[in-house]
Amino acid sequence: MSNSVHPAYVPADLSGSDAAGNLPGGTLPTRVGVLGGGRMGAGIAHAFLINGADVLVVERDEASAEAARGRVESAAAKSIERGATDGNLDEMASRLSVTVDYDDFKDRQLVVEAVPEDWDLKVASLRGIEERLSEAAYLASNTSSLSVNGLARELKRPENFLGLHFFNPVPASTLIEVVLGEQTSSDLAAAAKRWVEALGKTAVVVNDAPGFASSRLGVAIALEAMRMVEEGIASAEDIDNAMVLGYKHPTGPLRTTDIVGLDVRLGIAEYLQSTLGERFAPPQILRDKVARGELGRKTGKGFFDWPA
Ligand SMILES: NC(=O)c1ccc[n+]([C@@H]2O[C@H](COP(=O)([O-])OP(=O)(O)OC[C@H]3O[C@@H](n4cnc5c(N)ncnc54)[C@H](O)[C@@H]3O)[C@@H](O)[C@H]2O)c1
Repeated sequence: MSNSVHPAYVPADLSGSDAAGNLPGGTLPTRVGVLGGGRMGAGIAHAFLINGADVLVVERDEASAEAARGRVESAAAKSIERGATDGNLDEMASRLSVTVDYDDFKDRQLVVEAVPEDWDLKVASLRGIEERLSEAAYLASNTSSLSVNGLARELKRPENFLGLHFFNPVPASTLIEVVLGEQTSSDLAAAAKRWVEALGKTAVVVNDAPGFASSRLGVAIALEAMRMVEEGIASAEDIDNAMVLGYKHPTGPLRTTDIVGLDVRLGIAEYLQSTLGERFAPPQILRDKVARGELGRKTGKGFFDWPA
């Protein structure tokens, strides 16, 4: 595998791409950047890499950078193994660069930010990227809950910014929420839909609002299911079966809650309650379980038992 470090600045090489720097077919940017190569960032880098882009991942320190490289390369190897791409690992590795220097973003046409979900960190990171990008370049955040409009207000070119909400694990998920801010340009909105398609996934386009589309609906159903357990209407098993067998829900809202983590769901519910109102108030049963440390699969018990 290549160990090359991305040079500080590479003048635009548009060979094989159109005038705007898109890959042949005009669907994906040729040069993509990702800030933060953790669980999501590595998955995002992998998605662009296996679809032909030149990908730069910037991390906070050398150890994290090497770990990020390992995650992306091992995901690429798995994709090749299971036939999800007919690419060659060495060729893919030659298009992957991992550094710790924001200046390396200079020649990127699109950068997706995927640092931890912390407002101040996101704002500082997005500003740091934006000041290095050309005026024409696009910037996206993979935030799962922060306001895209709020983040856009912290930037100089809000028209070039939007949310690209990838799902975990990225290689297995076929959904990306394209979250449009009030000032996102129509060009960027249209381009983002093409990118998602070129990544082999489906775009759900949503105007920025708390919980976007996925969390808001997913959490609403889960909270109602919890209230039904609380009221003794049916067992967790039967409620989930009603949704799985009756409505083709893949796992049931309560089992999904166990997998996501009850503490994570409580945090989201509290946020949605504060922004969208009392219909998202967390049920007492959720608070009680979190207080007892019954956080779902990760602790062995939630609405179901998860033997080790
Ligand atoms: N994990 C999920 O299920 C999931 C799903 C959808 C969206 N998200 C969102 O994706 C984002 C990232 O989440 P994650 O689960 O990948 O987190 P993670 O902790 O796995 O990864 C974050 C990465 O960012 C790096 N980082 C931290 N500060 C940095 C800095 N200043 N500069 C560069 N890199 C830095 C860390 O070293 C780490 O590798 C969050 O906004 C999260 O809400 C997460």
